[in-house]
Amino acid sequence: MDRIRIVGGRPLDGTIPISGAKNATLPLMIASLLTEETLILDNVPRLADVALLERILGNHGVDIMTSGKRAGETADHGQTLHISAARIVDTTAPYELVSKMRASFWVLAPLVARMGEARVSMPGGCAIGTRPVDLLIMAMSRLGADIEIDGGYVVARAPRGLRGGEITFPKVTVGGTHTALMGASLANGTTVIDNAAQEPEIADVADCLNKMGARISGAGTSRIVVEGVAKLCGARHAVLPDRIETGTYAMATAMAGGDVLLQNARPELLQAAFDVLAQAGATVTPTNQGVRIARNGAGLAPVEVSTAPFPGFPTDLQAQLMALMTRARGTSHITETIFENRFMHVGELTRLGARIQLDGERATIEGVEQLKGAPVMATDLRASVSLVIAALAAEGETIVNRVYHLDRGFERLEEKLGRCGAAIERLSG
Ligand code: EPZ
Repeated sequence: MDRIRIVGGRPLDGTIPISGAKNATLPLMIASLLTEETLILDNVPRLADVALLERILGNHGVDIMTSGKRAGETADHGQTLHISAARIVDTTAPYELVSKMRASFWVLAPLVARMGEARVSMPGGCAIGTRPVDLLIMAMSRLGADIEIDGGYVVARAPRGLRGGEITFPKVTVGGTHTALMGASLANGTTVIDNAAQEPEIADVADCLNKMGARISGAGTSRIVVEGVAKLCGARHAVLPDRIETGTYAMATAMAGGDVLLQNARPELLQAAFDVLAQAGATVTPTNQGVRIARNGAGLAPVEVSTAPFPGFPTDLQAQLMALMTRARGTSHITETIFENRFMHVGELTRLGARIQLDGERATIEGVEQLKGAPVMATDLRASVSLVIAALAAEGETIVNRVYHLDRGFERLEEKLGRCGAAIERLSG
């Protein structure tokens, strides 16, 4: 199992290219099921989760071709996928695949919309929480699907097609909103989605669906209206930059000190996170090439943050912010309001010398002068990168184990940080 070795204490200076967003790529790939024509996606990141979803879609009969390198392209270019669901040969998504990558549960809506039926394994929980799918099932019911749970599988049928309806989410759910959007796009009639998720990835998927012939308005706000159409066509769409990767490297720079251009980053995708970084003492400068992050010798100021659905501070940056606050001059408080168990990084940060107290969903972080390197264990995607951030400023050597978590969501992390001066290497085996 690969590990990552970091020797802390070096500033970051240079440019980090931001890849396409994982959390847009996954639903965009799934949206290919909605049409028999080819969907071309540009700027797709080279991630383990993307490769796994290719396998999962292949199980339904989807053909995926990856373009080869073009003249002048460097490794920083995202890949281009040509995805063709001309013939869906299997409407079952098996447990052994869905349990490996939860978002694959989202094939439910397009399979029912296109084929009139689907049998999709319940994804089960994961490290950060039980992750129920009751609201995704509710959305499908509101679109006229008959749903039953059988042996851990959601069996959905709509032999006469889905029909438009009113969907009001009692709580904001990204997956629920993707499900409602994809189902409604091919439903007979109009659908209104209230209390919809407003994450930028929702708007990116809606933008692509509209290129495919869907008629969606209001994506990115809490109220989305979809006029169903009979068919969707192929299209070409470039994945938007990854706001969580952007925020992660911004916090790494604030932690290590230095001056880094986050190339292709779009500030409006994570303004809440940039506001917190500015409060902590980093300098955030939007440029026409992306966003520049700098922190000179001045220390880090403590902050008070609660995670929230977009446009609030993203839960996917909570662990990274906590790592940063371990070195603040004072006491910070971070409250996790989205997931019930998203503090697994706390135990590992403590091994590096951090002082963190937990009280339910609230963490109190008392900044310390110095962290000390140690072997640490990753438990989930974002927790693992918070250990890398802490290690960049820790004295001596840190070994981050189980980096397969990192590979799920961060493309060439050690290369991107190494190119900016970090003492970081991957130890294979
Ligand atoms: C998406 O997960 C993201 N994943 C998550 O990123 C992200 O943390 C999350 O949205 C919140 O922003 C992808 O986009 C692939 P939710 P999702 O439905 O859709 C509860 C990462 O690190 N809920 O918005 O599964 C749920 O338990 C991942 O990239 C229900 O109760 O999250 C949670 O408390 C981690 N019933 C809250 O809603 C449901 O049916 C928000 O979950 C669905 C969700």
